[in-house]
Amino acid sequence: MTDLARLMLDHCPELMLLVNPSSLQIELANASAHSALGYPPGQLQGLTVTDVETDLQDLFYWQDAQAGQCRPVVDQEAQYRNIRGELLPVRKSVVVITTGEQPMLLVRATPSESEHVAEEALAQTLSQLSATLESTGNGILVLDWHGKVNSMNRMFGQMWEIPQDYLNSQDDGRILNFITGKIEESEPLRQQLDAVVHSEETRGLLHHHDGRVFEVGSRPQFLYEQIVGRVFSFQDITERTLAEKALRDSRDFLEERVLERTADLNAVNEKLKHEKELQGIFIQKLEEAQNQLLQSERMASIGQLAAGVAHEINNPVGFVNSNLGSLQSYVNDLFKLITAYEQTQPTLPDALKRQVKQVEEAIDLRFLRDDVPNLLKESIDGLQRVTRIVQDLKNFSHVDEAERQWADIEAGLESTLRVVWNELKYKAEVVKAYAGIPQIECFPFQLNQVFMNLLVNASHAIESHGTITIRTGLDDALVWIEIQDTGKGIKPEHLGRIFEPFFTTKPVGKGTGLGLSLAYGIIQKHHGSIEVQSEVGQGTTFKVTLPLKQPDPVVNPEHAP
Ligand SMILES: Nc1ncnc2c1ncn2[C@@H]1O[C@H](COP(=O)(O)OP(=O)(O)OP(=O)(O)O)[C@@H](O)[C@H]1O
Ligand SMILES: [Mg+2]
Repeated sequence: MTDLARLMLDHCPELMLLVNPSSLQIELANASAHSALGYPPGQLQGLTVTDVETDLQDLFYWQDAQAGQCRPVVDQEAQYRNIRGELLPVRKSVVVITTGEQPMLLVRATPSESEHVAEEALAQTLSQLSATLESTGNGILVLDWHGKVNSMNRMFGQMWEIPQDYLNSQDDGRILNFITGKIEESEPLRQQLDAVVHSEETRGLLHHHDGRVFEVGSRPQFLYEQIVGRVFSFQDITERTLAEKALRDSRDFLEERVLERTADLNAVNEKLKHEKELQGIFIQKLEEAQNQLLQSERMASIGQLAAGVAHEINNPVGFVNSNLGSLQSYVNDLFKLITAYEQTQPTLPDALKRQVKQVEEAIDLRFLRDDVPNLLKESIDGLQRVTRIVQDLKNFSHVDEAERQWADIEAGLESTLRVVWNELKYKAEVVKAYAGIPQIECFPFQLNQVFMNLLVNASHAIESHGTITIRTGLDDALVWIEIQDTGKGIKPEHLGRIFEPFFTTKPVGKGTGLGLSLAYGIIQKHHGSIEVQSEVGQGTTFKVTLPLKQPDPVVNPEHAP
């Protein structure tokens, strides 16, 4: 054999054995046979083929061959024993070579183990794959790159309810038309199914006409970085969608309830707040009413006291007054007599003259002459003041009644202003804001007295210079008059006492403390009210409120028939 032939033989991957059928000896074996069976080069020559081929069928074959029945063998499974006695699965063929008188048998074998293992692994993988495909809860559709259905699992057929005859017919177009015709999103799904070689992954929702909702995802299928198809996975998420919707609905419902409840609570809160405010106002009114009641009770008892005192003082003052009048004229007469006696003095005897002189000096007749009229005048003045006070007290306690009449209050204010103008003009600028109120039924002179007292007080409260504002107004059946000053204000602890008779903060001899009590009495008599608001350092406002018309005529007990 040439070297080239030998080289060719040794580079052939198949195991090659040339066997003499009569002796069953291996005449020639190539390098692949030596290396596959673990023999050193050349060691196979001389061995019998049955040292290598030990399967029963091979033993029978070689027996037949030795007996002259040389048969070719095509691609048969066999097992070769290697030098260590291990078995190597192979696929073998035998060719009968007849060159001379003696045929020779050429055995060619290929180790079948790797092929076999790969096939088995492939089969196993395929079976795992298909089991996986079937066991997934999703419907799987695989399209090849022509858009033809490559495979689909059972779940796909079930979830789309594809009729069995469609499946049997294996008409891809019919199946795909069937599924796209069942959903609202026919066109988008159709486009996705057509775009098989698109490299993007897709995800979306499909709404089945029967109300179910499918989630569809698709991704390209690669083979060696080449897109060979596309896998679509469909999942029925109807229950999840329904549950989510139910959850959303109940959340919305709850939110609505919470909003409603919050609104209810807010309304209740508002109501409570309002009620609390009303309560506060009510309590304040109650306190005011109680204070007014206390005040009017106190004023009523003070009024009674004042009336009693006035009455008691009135009589003695009356007779002291008339006695003083008489006394003044008697004293004048006595002085006249003394003057007459004095004129007769020169005619008196000296002793008598001296006696008279002594008496004159002892009693200081000259001083008496000067002082007695003064004393009498002062006493009469003092008594007049007492009379005025008694009159004020009487007014305060409604002792005197004059005729009631309809009068213009603003005109009354004007005339009062004229009377007190001398008092006010250096102290304050007077601002008038008359509303033009109608006439009211009243005792106008007494009301003027009230206004006068308020104006004088306002002026006294202003220390250097300020403003006195006079306002009037009409509220339903009531008129009101406000006298406001920018004076020193009233201390809170005095506010409750200013209407008491004889309450004054003025120095002794400056104020009697009867001005406001008189005003109070007069306003009471008119069925009106007098209120005060004051802030120390800022000023004071007195507000007098009077009814337009007096209720039934007041009958004064003193004037009663
Ligand atoms: N406008 C006012 N501003 C500040 N204090 C006032 C005002 N009006 C009254 N008062 C206070 O009220 C007290 C009582 O006032 P009321 O007019 O009754 O008496 P009076 O002014 O003191 O004396 P009179 O009998 O001479 O009026 C006053 O002494 C004064 O303290
Ligand atoms: Mg006064």
